Amino acid sequence: MCGIVGYVGNRDAANIIISGLRRLEYRGYDSAGVALSPEGENTLKVVKRAGKIVNLEAGVQKELPTSEEPYAGLGIGHTRWATHGQPTEENAHPHLSQNGQFAVVHNGIIDNYAGLKEKLIADGYTFKSETDTEVIAHLIEACYDGDLRGAVARAVETLEGTYGICVISSLHPKLMIAARKGSPIVIGVCKGETIVASDVSAIVSHTDQVIFMDDGDILTATPDTLDITSLKNVPVSRPPTTIDWDLGEIEKGGYEHFMLKEIYEQPVALANATRGRLVPKEGSVKLSGMQMDAYEMARIDRVSIAACGTSLYAGMVGKNFFEEFASIPTEIQQAAEFRDRNPIVLRDTCMLAISQSGETADTLAAVREATRKGATVLGVCNVVGSTIARETGRGVYLHAGPEIGVASTKAFTCQVSVMAMMAIAMGRTRRLSEHAGQAMVEELARIPELAQRVIDRNDEIKAMAEKYASKNDFFYIGRGYMFPAALEGALKLKEISYIHAEGYHAAELKHGPIALLCDDVPVVAAAPMIPGREKTIANMQECRARKSPVVAIATEGDSEIKTHADDVIWVPDCMEFVSPIPVVVAEQLFAYHVARARGCEIDQPRNLAKSVTVE
Ligand code: F6R
Repeated sequence: MCGIVGYVGNRDAANIIISGLRRLEYRGYDSAGVALSPEGENTLKVVKRAGKIVNLEAGVQKELPTSEEPYAGLGIGHTRWATHGQPTEENAHPHLSQNGQFAVVHNGIIDNYAGLKEKLIADGYTFKSETDTEVIAHLIEACYDGDLRGAVARAVETLEGTYGICVISSLHPKLMIAARKGSPIVIGVCKGETIVASDVSAIVSHTDQVIFMDDGDILTATPDTLDITSLKNVPVSRPPTTIDWDLGEIEKGGYEHFMLKEIYEQPVALANATRGRLVPKEGSVKLSGMQMDAYEMARIDRVSIAACGTSLYAGMVGKNFFEEFASIPTEIQQAAEFRDRNPIVLRDTCMLAISQSGETADTLAAVREATRKGATVLGVCNVVGSTIARETGRGVYLHAGPEIGVASTKAFTCQVSVMAMMAIAMGRTRRLSEHAGQAMVEELARIPELAQRVIDRNDEIKAMAEKYASKNDFFYIGRGYMFPAALEGALKLKEISYIHAEGYHAAELKHGPIALLCDDVPVVAAAPMIPGREKTIANMQECRARKSPVVAIATEGDSEIKTHADDVIWVPDCMEFVSPIPVVVAEQLFAYHVARARGCEIDQPRNLAKSVTVE
């Protein structure tokens, strides 16, 4: 979703901001812009362009004077993912106030912008864009009395909704202000300069020391000082966190796309997700982040999982774990639905919020609702220091490393592994025996190898994907653990190749969707050697009887399945509970190669954003 970068210091703000915005490209955007405050000029220079950052860069080169000296040491930049109004130059951020002296970039949505706009128009302000953000620029101007921090604080106090903003003014050529409520702002702490961004990826090349702003914080930064206060100007102490990402992790490292790199990283990511957490001798696991003793775990009488998209499908796999290994009734809900339908939260409910980014607005809203209703809420997040991770205060990090490709890959397999470990931990306080726990822990130690064995078949999967790449409709089917795998396979294919793909429970196909099957509609059937395989084979036969080509995802050595499928993607033999991992890795590679064969923009698919911070 939208990205923010701000800089105050003595280096060239335009360069730093544009390279920071490039690091945020993966989040998805459709226009970009910068506002710079050139020293001694008493004016703000704004350059904006619809489309990609290359357009903005060309615009900056054209419109700024060329000189050896930095043009400005203060500036803000933005990549916009359209919400209010089309992705045009006028609607791109930064937005200027009426007198042109204040510029603002904004992530989030202002719910009461229409009312504020009406009032501002009545007071003589004119609007150049259709955005909700422009009201913030005018409000800051209206509140300004010589103190920029105070004006921003007073302006944001009138806002309802969410914001992460960064503000500069031509009246204060060495001052940058940022504020947040609901949309992340991270401060990079450097000597002689401050960089802020909506995401650490834009900062890691400058420093590994960052401060995550909290809701209600206001940052006042000059090249030499950095102060955080509350809206009421009370100093707030936020110690820096050390980020352990290195630059290589957020670069492609020779791969054609981030998505492929991240698929290939899964053996390492899975090893990191389980490292130091498996205790084979006790048939158990150690997850200190859950901050729960055996007594507290044993008291949980219901698990409630809230998540969106790929994380939701990982959660569906997790539901099986908690019910099967820990005998705890578990419900899984799309996070927005969790909040919208006013859920019943019982006293001993443990809610799991599953989110790679830790910033998904719907999941965050579910976390807040469950917390309000007294549930114990645990985060299962990848991004350290993200809002969900901080608000839940406890949970389990994935340690998958940064996921830059918009289509989630390594997060899914690590989420599944982490939930398996959580279920084992809970199960061991209940009826899961040491012996059964040991077998499971040993299997979890094998998952990096399972993922690697699928990746080793990349060339076979690629050839198969190319064979089917011209099709325009697909079905994915599966049962039990393979049902969420089918949903995830279909999601991967549709989001990066734009092929219409539907994931269905294999048994549900004949209750309607079978009407759509024909020789032009392939069916991908997830049918490894686990319970449900025979029935899925029967469903595959039904599909073939309607002339649909069937691609089976099956266990190596399953010679019978070859007779029921047109093509087979082989995955290694494993215990049922980890089977979604190799199957989904195979589906990721299949979707990737289909999209590549169709010439799609894989890392930044149209209309998609990496983290969805609006509800
Ligand atoms: C699909 C995808 C999305 C996300 C969803 C939730 O490939 O990436 O469906 O899974 O937006 O995001 P997180 O996990 O960050 O909460």
